[in-house]
Amino acid sequence: MTETVFVLDFGAQYAQLIARRVRELGVYCEIVPYDTPWRTLCARDPAALILSGGPESTLVDGAPKMDPEIVESGVPILGICYGMQLVARDVGAELLKLDQAEYGPATLVISDRTTPLFDGVPDDSRVWMSHGDSVVRLAEGYRALGSTARCHVAAMGDPKKKIYGVQFHPEVVQSEYGRTVLENFLGEIAALRRDWKMESFLERSVQEIRERVADDRVICALSGGVDSAVAATLVARAVGEQLTCVFVDHGLLRQGESDEVLAAFRELLHLNVVAVDARERFLRKLAGIEDPERKRVVIGHEFIAVFEEEARRIPGVKYLVQGTLYPDVIESKTPQSKAGHKIKSHHNVGGLPEKMGLELIEPLRSLFKDEVRRLGRALCLPENIVARQPFPGPGLAVRIIGDVTAHRLDTLRAADAIVRAEIDGADLHPHPWQYFAVLTPVKSVGVMGDGRTYANLVAVRAITSEDGMTADWARLPHELLERISSRIVNEVPGVNRIAYDITTKPPATVEWE
Ligand code: XMP
Repeated sequence: MTETVFVLDFGAQYAQLIARRVRELGVYCEIVPYDTPWRTLCARDPAALILSGGPESTLVDGAPKMDPEIVESGVPILGICYGMQLVARDVGAELLKLDQAEYGPATLVISDRTTPLFDGVPDDSRVWMSHGDSVVRLAEGYRALGSTARCHVAAMGDPKKKIYGVQFHPEVVQSEYGRTVLENFLGEIAALRRDWKMESFLERSVQEIRERVADDRVICALSGGVDSAVAATLVARAVGEQLTCVFVDHGLLRQGESDEVLAAFRELLHLNVVAVDARERFLRKLAGIEDPERKRVVIGHEFIAVFEEEARRIPGVKYLVQGTLYPDVIESKTPQSKAGHKIKSHHNVGGLPEKMGLELIEPLRSLFKDEVRRLGRALCLPENIVARQPFPGPGLAVRIIGDVTAHRLDTLRAADAIVRAEIDGADLHPHPWQYFAVLTPVKSVGVMGDGRTYANLVAVRAITSEDGMTADWARLPHELLERISSRIVNEVPGVNRIAYDITTKPPATVEWE
């Protein structure tokens, strides 16, 4: 039985980071809402609990609280920031609002080494703080384990009950020894085995999917992207032929991509794939549309329409697989995240599950992108799929500024293939995170041979980034830029000028749209 740590999410921006750190330390971890009742948790046999931070103050009425049985359960607990204050309050400590919130780096001074929480952590170390309240008097049985200049109780613990709290954020890299603290909690205090790996996740998911699906049929939309590829392969591992994948070729993919995707899934992974050539259909719908948001909406609707037609041809389908990742789950909860919504509107097959009475299977819901790549490798997916660059659902339509036509798509595909081939072939450190060509409607005069040209401007975008949320333009070597430029202008008809995009995100976005 896999030992599982649950993170109770009190609305922290870092809850997912905590889960990921725990998994990195070899322990399986899932996030659950803060108000999950103890009986629900108990049924899952938690090996330890971590209470996340949160934006609220425990001192205000209506602050999120947890089931009181949790503190009494005997399961080892680590409260982080708000989580620590909540435990402290619930066991009878006294808290006060600080005159001024403490935010940013601080020096943690360890004052008590009778517990293993700070084993391997020097007496003074840098931690990251973000709080407005502070514990000023401890409850019975608890010891103060460390402090910062502004926070008297920056860490506390009751070794008998195995309940600990840290006011700082051990999950962020700015806390120098944060990883060691989490490691001590998991290994020394909760005595967990730390033997979890992606293969264990794989086996467990396969088992769960098999039990849930039983003899029913499942469908999945393959986009060629990593997420749907991994989700489909995982489900196929569980239920084999009961899964039908639908690959909608909307004609907005990069050069050679649709053949590559089909070859990988059919020949290499032996998935049951229905390919739909919808290129004409999408082009007709897109004709004359210049507004990027309109393009996205039209493509999204059309995609659902095609997918639904195919789905209806398969008798007795009960489940729909979706490659939703943890960040998608978070984004869909925060309406202010505009980009998140955009991404969702295409990525999800819209209201289809309700309309067709399908139940969702989302096996990647608890994972991050890099974890999904690791899972893909554990499933033996080929590297050209696992390491694929992020690619917008509406595809090249958002990289053509203005009208999308078959001709303009061909132009962009040819230019983009050159950008990718040249950058792939260069030995760059760091290798850019994403790189592509953009076809602009700008025309300018040039001279080629003895003749005057009046042709399009292509922009080249190459960025370094961690997650696409922020980005810097890649400092590509001049010789590489020169090769890209001269090859595109010489090899792609209708292009006579190249510009390199040197804007960061923010203020620009990655895609031009
Ligand atoms: P922006 O342009 O918003 O892009 O800075 C950030 C990252 O998201 C990718 N992107 C998408 N990915 N569906 C996706 O799966 C989409 O509709 C979509 N739009 C943008 C973009 O390529 C970049 O990596």
